Amino acid sequence: MTRVLVLNGPNLGRLGSREPEVYGTVTYEELVRRCEEVGAGLGLEVEVRQTDDEAELVGWLHEAADAGLPVVLNPAAFTHYSYALRDACAQLRAPLIEVHLTNPATREAFRHTSVVAGVATGTIAGFGVRSYDLALQVVAAHA
Ligand code: DQA
Repeated sequence: MTRVLVLNGPNLGRLGSREPEVYGTVTYEELVRRCEEVGAGLGLEVEVRQTDDEAELVGWLHEAADAGLPVVLNPAAFTHYSYALRDACAQLRAPLIEVHLTNPATREAFRHTSVVAGVATGTIAGFGVRSYDLALQVVAAHA
């Protein structure tokens, strides 16, 4: 079974109650279960994590780099300015799929830049929690 880390950045632990008109009503716990179930159906062993802490997220990316694990990453607000995150992503050896629930390109100007996109295998954005399903499908296809 291919192991995959699904990593989530700041504020995503508050899904369900966080600006539901923007991010939907699916809770973070429901997203975790969904990723595990979708992953199992694709033959993937999915581990979902969330942190509000940049250093912790960088540490998890180092772990994935050292273990050669594929990563599905929603960097949340770090997407737009964290060069530390980008540099950690650049060390990955397996596919990196950047995901977003919303489509940042249709939102405020500061969200139009992703410093991660240039080192990602690809980006899936704008499909709500389905963005994660699609990313896991891509990981399974690469496995
Ligand atoms: C997000 C988009 C980011 O701009 C925002 O800061 C988030 C969530 C998304 O999934 O749509 O926290 O990554």
